[in-house]
Amino acid sequence: MLIVVDERQERSSVRAANIVADLIKRKRKSVLGLATGKSPVGAYDELIRMHREEGLDLSEITTFNLDEYVGIPREHLQSFYTQIHTNFLNQVNIKPENAHIPDGTTADFERACDDYEKAIREAGGIDLQILGIGRTGHIGFNEPTSSLASRTRLKTLSDETIEDNKKVDGDIPTVAITMGIGTILEAKHLMLLAYGSAKAEAVVKAIEGPLTSSVSASALQMHRNVTVLLDEEAAANLSHRDYYRRVVEQTAKYSPVRLGLK
Ligand code: GLP
Repeated sequence: MLIVVDERQERSSVRAANIVADLIKRKRKSVLGLATGKSPVGAYDELIRMHREEGLDLSEITTFNLDEYVGIPREHLQSFYTQIHTNFLNQVNIKPENAHIPDGTTADFERACDDYEKAIREAGGIDLQILGIGRTGHIGFNEPTSSLASRTRLKTLSDETIEDNKKVDGDIPTVAITMGIGTILEAKHLMLLAYGSAKAEAVVKAIEGPLTSSVSASALQMHRNVTVLLDEEAAANLSHRDYYRRVVEQTAKYSPVRLGLK
């Protein structure tokens, strides 16, 4: 796990965007896993800027969103469909038919979940999955006690998540469709973004705590290629800060591209 702490979130967002852009330049047909929420917005803004000002071409990429609320239509202001279109998809040249978002309004959820998994497989798997983390330590909407082997399915939201998301999204549904932890772990590279003191506890549990379904982000410890991008506040509770700093210094020497350095 490569843990990179930046003083400011803006710097970290640029790193995240550079890591994504580097992948797209190396592999034009790459498959990107997208997350909604506040954490990746700065990275999306930077990718949009690169697209507009530096000609970053996203026309061949395919995207899969992590999750979606159940029971509200796509065009609803609170849907993740609307969020990701407003914050990213509408502002770059990803082909609409290549942008996949779980369908929270389907009449047949079993089938929709299986089809989503199948679509990911048929696209060749996810090259890079962007992740945020919830206060409960969730990734996607995999609330505590989600199976570490779970696949795309319906998930009942926890009280903490409902409370947190209400602050941003207003009155939100209490059930969601989400990629499972097993689905997420199959992506070739995972990039977790967390900013602000409200995330500090979930971050330390995910990175330095025991592997447990009570903190679904701790499953990242089982993946061989994880980049965690934090600001100082989100990193505040980590015990091995000095070690992570030394790893970053050495990575900058030998493999700067992994740090989102140009
Ligand atoms: C939501 C989403 C997650 C997201 C998390 C953090 O519950 N289901 O995918 O990562 O909240 O959101 P934010 O980045 O806004 O803090």
